[in-house]
Amino acid sequence: MDKLLIQGGRRLRGSVAVAGSKNACLPIMAAAILADGPLTLHGVPVLEDIRALGDLLEELGLTVRRDGDTLALQVADTEPCHARYDLVRKMRASICVLGPLLGRRGRARVSMPGGCAIGPRPIDLHLRGLEAMGATIELDEGDIVATADRLHGAEIFLGGPFGSTVLGTANVMMAAALAEGTTVIESAACEPEVQDLAACLNAMGARISGAGTPRVTVEGVQSLQGCEHTAIPDRIEAGTFMCAAAITNGQVRIERVRLDHMVAVVDRLRAIGVIVEPADGGAEISSTRRLTAVDATTQPYPGFPTDLQAQLMALLCLADGNSVLTEKIYPDRFLHVAELARMGARIRKEGPTAIVTGAKRLVGAPVMASDLRASAALVLAGLAAEGCTTINRIYHLDRGYQRIEEKLLALGADIRRVAE
Ligand code: EPZ
Repeated sequence: MDKLLIQGGRRLRGSVAVAGSKNACLPIMAAAILADGPLTLHGVPVLEDIRALGDLLEELGLTVRRDGDTLALQVADTEPCHARYDLVRKMRASICVLGPLLGRRGRARVSMPGGCAIGPRPIDLHLRGLEAMGATIELDEGDIVATADRLHGAEIFLGGPFGSTVLGTANVMMAAALAEGTTVIESAACEPEVQDLAACLNAMGARISGAGTPRVTVEGVQSLQGCEHTAIPDRIEAGTFMCAAAITNGQVRIERVRLDHMVAVVDRLRAIGVIVEPADGGAEISSTRRLTAVDATTQPYPGFPTDLQAQLMALLCLADGNSVLTEKIYPDRFLHVAELARMGARIRKEGPTAIVTGAKRLVGAPVMASDLRASAALVLAGLAAEGCTTINRIYHLDRGYQRIEEKLLALGADIRRVAE
């Protein structure tokens, strides 16, 4: 298992390009199950999660070929319908094959995803949506077994106790694309990744309107064709590099960023005192002074994303005053708190809220990565800390960040990967 060694205290300078969005690519890859022709997807980052879904899709009868950042996906066999526990447990997002399998092949057997480090992650809303379209759903030996002759359109409410569901909206949208009649999804997730999936499905011949709003309408069609599509840039990777520039008092140009997907993030960064300037398809991020404490609450899009909560917390560890961070999507997503404390952070957790009292400095320490975004927060803290930080178990990082240490090295960080 690899680990990262970071010697903190270097100001980051230069330019970094953001990869295509992991969370846009995953459901779009699954959408290839629906198409009668090849799907050519550009902007696919080289990540463990993408590779894991590629393996699963191959088991489900697709050919998956990579050429640089382009993936070519095509159905070769429509018989397999079983997403095995071995593959699903490696990556929870595998659940996004459920809707396409059911919609195109009339049956799906998908291992029920278990819990994960960021807390319980039920899929009741996915199942409720598919049932409303006429699917029969049973649980058998830990697998969800879903069947339907042909799904029919329905009015479906997808709001849950924590707001809308991103992959639930994706699953229902993909299943509805080939259903008989019209489906209306109320309280649909509005995330840019859902919009990107809808754009790709429409390019395949689907008839989806309203994606990006809480009401999405899907008029079912008989078949879908292949298409060529480019994934949107990864707003979470972009936000992570923005925090990296800010925490090191650096000056970084971020290429290929969609600031219109990051309004809440830019709002909070500016409130902290970070300068964010749009610059010709990218953004210039700089910070030259002490940071100011702010409050932030994670919410469904367009609110502040839960996937950047840990990174923002790392930044606020060095801001003057008390910041209040409240997690409204995953109330238990705070495993990074104890690790940041090992580096001198002053954080008090009260239920779904963390109160961060800015410290004058962080100090390097050996720390343990617990999940993808928590790992990114530890990298940020390590960049700013005095001395050496060792981050163990960085396979989490490789699930979601393509060559993060190479990108940071190019910006002037003192960082290296070593085999444990
Ligand atoms: C997506 O997960 C992302 N994953 C997550 O990113 C992200 O944190 C999350 O959306 C929230 O933005 C991918 O896109 C692959 P949800 P998803 O269903 O769709 C509750 C990362 O770091 N809920 O929108 O699985 C759920 O427990 C990952 O890249 C139900 O109650 O999340 C949570 O509180 C981690 N019932 C909230 O809704 C359901 O049926 C939002 O979850 C489904 C969800």
